[in-house]
Amino acid sequence: MSKKYIGVFDSGLGGLTTVKEIIRQLPDENIVFLGDTLHMPYGNKTTEEIISYSLENVEVLKQYDLKAIVIACNTSDANAREVLKKYNEDIPIFGVINAAALQADELSVNHRIGIIATKSTVDSGKYVEALHSLNKKNRVYPIACPKLVPMIEKGMFLSDPKQMKETLAEYLEPLKEKDIDTLILGCTHYDILWNLSKEIMPGLMIVSSSRCVVAELKRYLKENDLLSKNKKAQRIYMVTSDPEDFEKTAALLIDDIEIKRIA
Ligand code: DGL
Repeated sequence: MSKKYIGVFDSGLGGLTTVKEIIRQLPDENIVFLGDTLHMPYGNKTTEEIISYSLENVEVLKQYDLKAIVIACNTSDANAREVLKKYNEDIPIFGVINAAALQADELSVNHRIGIIATKSTVDSGKYVEALHSLNKKNRVYPIACPKLVPMIEKGMFLSDPKQMKETLAEYLEPLKEKDIDTLILGCTHYDILWNLSKEIMPGLMIVSSSRCVVAELKRYLKENDLLSKNKKAQRIYMVTSDPEDFEKTAALLIDDIEIKRIA
């Protein structure tokens, strides 16, 4: 029986939306998750800082026997994917950006695609690059939303949904005149805002970067005969700062979650 784990990391809560999807699609897999809450938010950090945190995150995950790594963070995927692959050639690494771009390209009929993401992800131009390489006709409208991640981490989607919705609506406002038919939630934290995004912009097709990557991971595990046959999957959750507040919000996403602090 395989003891191997799928390693997943993010700056915080966003990564758990990917873990939730892995549990849904691949319930037998062992998962080890690291939320680098000490350095959250990543979205306003320099490329050098994001690379350094991402490398450290993977080192922590590698204490476990990994069969795959999921970069459940668009900001890290945008800035650090190549470096992570270079230093970890022996482990397959899956990123969220290409998977989300692929789904948006498949869904969009008018080739007008909006993206909300962190400042760093938007500045990297990685989504625009991916969507243009899929189809030159794609018109891409990225919006940086620096206020959203700290609000989500504070649990404001529950404690103050009115304020959360107003802030999201402000960011989405410029997209209303762009005639987009598809919106990418290009930050894994924003998966939590799926319903609010639908309410603010009804009729749009919504693509969550958190979820698309899991189909790719599943395909890889299947094709390489690496699917787990565990009867009881192990799940390990770690963060780099005080877990108390994080655990309360995380419990809204994952049942029976227990989080330990490392570092
Ligand atoms: N959830 C992350 C992302 O997908 C990081 C957000 C942040 O820490 O700013 O970009």
